[in-house]
Amino acid sequence: MVRLPRGEAPLRRVIVLGAGFFGRAIARRLADVGIAPVVASRSRGDVRIDVEDDRAIREVLRQGDVVVDTVGPFQTRSTRLVEGAIEIGCDVVDLSDSLAYARAVLALHDRAASAGVRLFTSCSAIATVAASAIRASGTVAPETCDLFLAPASAETANPATVRAFLASVDWSRSREFPADRRRGHRVESAAAALLPRSWPSLRWVDFWVDPNAPFAARSLALASRFGLMSLLSAVAPLSARLLGRREGSFTVALSEQGRYSLVRLAAPRGSYLIAAEPAVLAAESLGSGAAIPPGVVRSDAQVDPATLFARLRELGVDVRPSPKTW
Ligand SMILES: NC(=O)c1ccc[n+]([C@@H]2O[C@H](COP(=O)([O-])OP(=O)(O)OC[C@H]3O[C@@H](n4cnc5c(N)ncnc54)[C@H](OP(=O)(O)O)[C@@H]3O)[C@@H](O)[C@H]2O)c1
Repeated sequence: MVRLPRGEAPLRRVIVLGAGFFGRAIARRLADVGIAPVVASRSRGDVRIDVEDDRAIREVLRQGDVVVDTVGPFQTRSTRLVEGAIEIGCDVVDLSDSLAYARAVLALHDRAASAGVRLFTSCSAIATVAASAIRASGTVAPETCDLFLAPASAETANPATVRAFLASVDWSRSREFPADRRRGHRVESAAAALLPRSWPSLRWVDFWVDPNAPFAARSLALASRFGLMSLLSAVAPLSARLLGRREGSFTVALSEQGRYSLVRLAAPRGSYLIAAEPAVLAAESLGSGAAIPPGVVRSDAQVDPATLFARLRELGVDVRPSPKTW
């Protein structure tokens, strides 16, 4: 585990884009491991930046920076920031959950590789924790992968996350969770494009989300049917804060030649760390000068699974790889 001695500066500047829930959570975790990041957004943080403005990108980013991008919803983002980072010479670690964004970043692989820039896309629960769970499960050639998320909605139902969820959910498809008594709706995700890069044997990668607040799925589905999405995006964060749950889980369910396995991560509080810690580890290793081949770094090569799971356990997350069938 790379852990900088207190007071020792990393070799490279780390800049966190987005000063919302995840940006601030990652900045706090970076501070815990001895890295003082610069935090930037349009209206908060140490520096102002609009990640859709080429001039602002050029003014704020410097060659050699490690950029941790938490600016959501990624479903509405262009790749301006990534393209700017490639030209300037910054590595980028992002928390994207968007399938379209993953495809757009993958299309920049050759440009990033020739510029010597590393792109850690979807370095979060989707897709890095999922990839780490597949590696930890010992599954060599998984055929199916289902991801089940019950977020701690009281903490994580913030504007960008709510808009990302509402832009990607399919209310017509739902599935029972394998290890909890709850149902999730299908959500389009970056994992569908990224995990098959590491495991071409995968026939599908599906993502199922239970919003984890009383009546949330039913009322969100109804409101979306009646075209009340903008009202929903506005009121959902506040109502989730009041009514949402604080416990959360993320389960990776795999099948390989008729054998099924599960890896479940859960915490009574602070399960958002499951989504935040991969980016912290990635920024630590890039910041301390680790030699990582350039281009779009595969999800299974972004962090070491043993290190990630040890770190999450230290932070109070229960991580259980189990051979249990469902
Ligand atoms: N892949 C995964 O597994 C995973 C897990 C968790 C979260 N996520 C994603 O992470 C994203 C962030 O979530 P969050 O809870 O931190 O959201 P949030 O609390 O709403 O924060 C979003 C931040 O982005 C900033 N921002 C918005 N547009 C910007 C722009 N054009 N330029 C610069 N900054 C901008 C906002 O500040 P200003 O308005 O001041 O600019 C705000 O600070 C969401 O899209 C979520 O879906 C992914």
